[in-house]
Amino acid sequence: MTANTAALGSTDANAEMSRREFLNYAWLATLGILTIEMSAVTLMFAMPRLGPGEFGGPVPIGSVDGLTMDTKASPTAFNRSKFWWVNTDAGALAIYKVCTHLGCIYDWKPAENKYICPCHGSQFERDGKFIQGPAPRDLDRFVIRALDSAGNEVARTNEAGEPLQIPAGSTIVVETGLRIHGQPKA
Ligand code: FES
Repeated sequence: MTANTAALGSTDANAEMSRREFLNYAWLATLGILTIEMSAVTLMFAMPRLGPGEFGGPVPIGSVDGLTMDTKASPTAFNRSKFWWVNTDAGALAIYKVCTHLGCIYDWKPAENKYICPCHGSQFERDGKFIQGPAPRDLDRFVIRALDSAGNEVARTNEAGEPLQIPAGSTIVVETGLRIHGQPKA
């Protein structure tokens, strides 16, 4: 082998090495971009963007003075936020509008003073307690928060979802992302 042939062989090897390095870098860059894109998509699904007052997040419903607090009145429907506002002798409730059987939207029947699900006939009392039907438990409730004029929390639904006594003049927020399952039927 002459010196020229050896030099040419070395140049080819260098060129092949550079090509291989370039391909390796390109492949790594593509992999990196794909990983970043997949992570971004996963994050977008994991962290839904909720507008103010949308179902799934805090829903401000104004001052308690503007809400129906009559303990015998029909529940007030907040259809977009999927709950009923109900006041009872024990305090206020925000009851999820979805049946605990198979997820139908049930109705309030004022003449019968109870909720009745049109799908399979489950019935519930005004405060969401199970009466009869295939539903396995009471209706679910959302956490209610009462805020003073400075925005400080002055009352909040407890972990058991018991009715909340609301201080006069409070502003009410219903946390539709915080759902408390109803008690299983006896
Ligand atoms: S979904 Fe309501 S009773 Fe079946």
